[in-house]
Amino acid sequence: MASKTLLVLLLPFNLVLFLSILAEAQLLQVGFYSKTCPNVEDIVRKEMTEILSVAPSLAGPLLRLHFHDCFVRGCDGSVLLDSTKNNVAEKEADPNKSLRGFGVIERVKAKVEKACPNTVSCADILALVARDAVWLSKGPSWPVWTGRRDGRVSLATETKQLPSPNANITRLISNFAAKGLSVKDLAVLSGGHTLGTSHCSSFSERLYNFTGKDNLHDVDPALDKEYVPKLRARCSLTDNTTIVEMDPGSFRTFDTSYYKYVAKRRGLFHSDASLLTNSETKAYVQRHADGLTAEFFQDFGDSMINMGNVAVLTGNQGEIRKKCYVVNKIN
Ligand code: HEM
Repeated sequence: MASKTLLVLLLPFNLVLFLSILAEAQLLQVGFYSKTCPNVEDIVRKEMTEILSVAPSLAGPLLRLHFHDCFVRGCDGSVLLDSTKNNVAEKEADPNKSLRGFGVIERVKAKVEKACPNTVSCADILALVARDAVWLSKGPSWPVWTGRRDGRVSLATETKQLPSPNANITRLISNFAAKGLSVKDLAVLSGGHTLGTSHCSSFSERLYNFTGKDNLHDVDPALDKEYVPKLRARCSLTDNTTIVEMDPGSFRTFDTSYYKYVAKRRGLFHSDASLLTNSETKAYVQRHADGLTAEFFQDFGDSMINMGNVAVLTGNQGEIRKKCYVVNKIN
């Protein structure tokens, strides 16, 4: 009886809480800038078309930037901030040292600032750039929900939340769940590895030193034995500079062939191989190894929208940065 009374007393409070959560959630919307910067998506698309026409291999890095932004402190542009005298920023942490494309974001932001000063966040520019990078690589397009605000904090130590290329499936699922993303999102978004390259150092332990024995037979058993010599010919154990295509043959084209490689146990990372060790992710890989492009494209857009919603700042939170690499000065 007492608990019923308590429930009734708490109801109005719960209702207010629920309505305010709903109001916050509705602040991200398709066309958030339709009145304040109606051409923003055209400006981004035009810049991206020019940039990728001369440097198509930047598509992968630009997609990855949005992912690394969203997984640390939410999609708040924190990955773009430079370190300061008193702070080591996310971009200097190990998993982010291989990120590229920061110059592109500054270039696009400068164009947008010229048309609409102090209006469009860097976090939204990252989301729009990632969408256009995929579309210009012959992949899908999707409506980008905008209205994110930029954070003022970026800590190298927080990049531990990024999934490791050595992770097993349990780890990957919990990394994604911690961001409110599902097992399906994991299977779908891993398909982002259809674009781009990896440094040997991100997977060379699979080739030489998987269990720490450091000899020629010490290979990740999840890797196709016939693929090992090919990868070894490209990468020594200590090679930190060579890059290898993750989806050889079509690493600049967004397609389903990543799943073909993973199904043949030729995914570059242990994390890619781990998708074959869970019934749901395995089924997704196997079905898409045979094509099903339209379904993958639809799924990828849906999962990118989910990822783009992770812990966003909205309303009066954060700020609209003037330059993406530095927080605004407080007067
Ligand atoms: C599932 C967990 C994931 C892990 C463990 C992982 C790990 C990695 C690693 C280690 C690299 C190579 C970095 C290097 O050595 O240069 C890489 C590259 C890349 N990742 Fe992921 N990733 C994951 C998920 C994602 C997601 C969700 C996306 C986007 C939707 C993505 C997009 C990319 C792209 C496009 C590249 C190529 C970047 C380039 O060409 O420079 N990854 N990833």
